[in-house]
Amino acid sequence: MLIRENYTEYNLVELEQDCWNRLVTGASKSRNPFHTPCVATLAYGEVSLRTVVLRKTLPEERELRFHTDIRSPKWNELLINPSISALFYDSEERIQLRVKGKAVLHHTDDLTAKAWQTTSLSSRKCYLTLHSPSSFTDSSTSGLSEEIEQEKFTLSESEAGYENFGIVSIQVQSIDWLWLNHAGHRRAFFDYSDGSFQWMIP
Ligand SMILES: Cc1cc2nc3c(=O)[nH]c(=O)nc-3n(C[C@H](O)[C@H](O)[C@H](O)COP(=O)(O)O)c2cc1C
Repeated sequence: MLIRENYTEYNLVELEQDCWNRLVTGASKSRNPFHTPCVATLAYGEVSLRTVVLRKTLPEERELRFHTDIRSPKWNELLINPSISALFYDSEERIQLRVKGKAVLHHTDDLTAKAWQTTSLSSRKCYLTLHSPSSFTDSSTSGLSEEIEQEKFTLSESEAGYENFGIVSIQVQSIDWLWLNHAGHRRAFFDYSDGSFQWMIP
């Protein structure tokens, strides 16, 4: 990652590289502000937002990935409309990235099989709720059985969660970079649909 703080010295190519470096770091470091972007979907004329964990960044492929339960509303929203946007903000660096792209959904394929292998028992719990995430209940509950809630289950018992495990791959189409600076903000737009990199008025 570039360590100069003055982004007025950067050219567009350096800046674009810096965006991807930050996204790579965000995926690998749990305390990094880019680790938990806000992701937006659009279906039935309604926008929905939620926080997710950035699990993987592939700069060469211009791809970002997060994991989710395929029974969750966002999965169906993306089936209806694959348009997706992810918002990142680093308050220390004062850098915002607005990423737009198309979602490719992975379920019971090679990618999910590999990721599931490295999913810890405690993370597998998320995919073992008896009812779908976001369904309403009569009382306050995790949706897990007592055994699962207390992690009294084996790795092989956790395999039941694999059916619910999905990976959303965001094929990035553009990045809108914004840097807040007291002497004057800066903004740039990287459009992969036509390969143009441009400065913008912040
Ligand atoms: C810090 C944080 C990280 C989260 N990570 C994920 C995630 O990686 N995948 C996911 O499906 N939900 C994640 N959630 C929960 C979602 O924000 C959301 O509440 C849930 O997935 C239901 O979303 P939906 O109804 O739009 O499908 C996270 C929530 C927080 C607060």
